[in-house]
Amino acid sequence: TEAELDAYFEARIAGDQRIEPRDWMPEGYRRTLVRQVAQHAHSEIIGMQPEGDWIASAPSLQRKAILLAKVQDEAGHGMYLYAAAETLGVDRAELTERLVDGRQKYSSIFNYPALSFADVGVIGWLVDGAAICNQVPLCRSSFGPYARAMVRICKEESFHQRQGYELLLRMMEGTPRQRAMVQDAVDRWWWPSLMMFGPPDAESPNTRQSMAWRVKRDTNDDLRQRFVDMSVPQARRLGVTLPDPDLAWNAERGHYDFGPVDWAEFKRVISGDGPCNAERIARRRAAHENGAWVREAATAYATKHGGGRTA
Ligand code: 3HC
Repeated sequence: TEAELDAYFEARIAGDQRIEPRDWMPEGYRRTLVRQVAQHAHSEIIGMQPEGDWIASAPSLQRKAILLAKVQDEAGHGMYLYAAAETLGVDRAELTERLVDGRQKYSSIFNYPALSFADVGVIGWLVDGAAICNQVPLCRSSFGPYARAMVRICKEESFHQRQGYELLLRMMEGTPRQRAMVQDAVDRWWWPSLMMFGPPDAESPNTRQSMAWRVKRDTNDDLRQRFVDMSVPQARRLGVTLPDPDLAWNAERGHYDFGPVDWAEFKRVISGDGPCNAERIARRRAAHENGAWVREAATAYATKHGGGRTA
């Protein structure tokens, strides 16, 4: 019966076992996974835009090659995650429609502009650093395909973070103008990076259930705190100031205290009213429409030559 299947499912979750696509799962489990995995995939694809714009004007061939590799990795991360979502019975074309129609979200962080090449370094250091904080625990997510996609993505993400931090170290050894560029980028990306972890636990409709089903292994606030604790010493090593006067070590807690996050800004950005939302979606829609002929050609070829489904 349904009750027996549910009890068996819950016992497997409690026993920290992986749930695979062919296993029975509650409809709510499937739905929240499609939601989270699809939005994660959308984030990777939209995330290619702010940095992709800097490939043509990178300051050296080496920087251009590194940035090209990183942006290409993000596309691959999107593909792994759409493939993981498709094991739940959805189709990436349908997910892309939901993205461009605004029916599904992508990470708020990509709605901010990358104004100078220092932003490429700060995105690597802070945004990919926050992604690592959030994604390493997801390697132990209860849904098999998602957890396995995370293992590969986390390995590439650590290269992304390191290349960003190394770029900033170089710039901070540079001219006063280069140092000022780095500080300006840190000032613009610090708070939006904290928002990547989602709303406070008390205002997070999904966290309790996602933790119970071990889709998530840590809460939004715990991961945010972990990220702050990790970033403060790195900022000190870089010689930049994090734009939060309330940031202070709290020996009692064994963590850094930090100031209030502007949740009104967060709500505006995730409801479509951030600095770059319209541009990001317009470009994603245009890429999807301009790429239709490639999908049609690949599908025609696969049909003619009896191949499988195409992207
Ligand atoms: N940006 C956009 N939407 C966000 C958000 C953010 N930073 N944080 C929360 N939300 C949305 C949630 O999706 C949810 O809306 P929904 O019900 O319509 O999906 C709502 O706000 C309430 O948030 P909850 O905390 O209840 O939602 P979750 O439990 O899903 O937690 C999350 C949000 C922490 C982002 C979680 O979904 C998650 O861990 N996702 C996987 C990681 C991910 O998506 N990372 C994207 C970062 S970018 C990236 O990885 C690319 C790398 O190359 C930099």
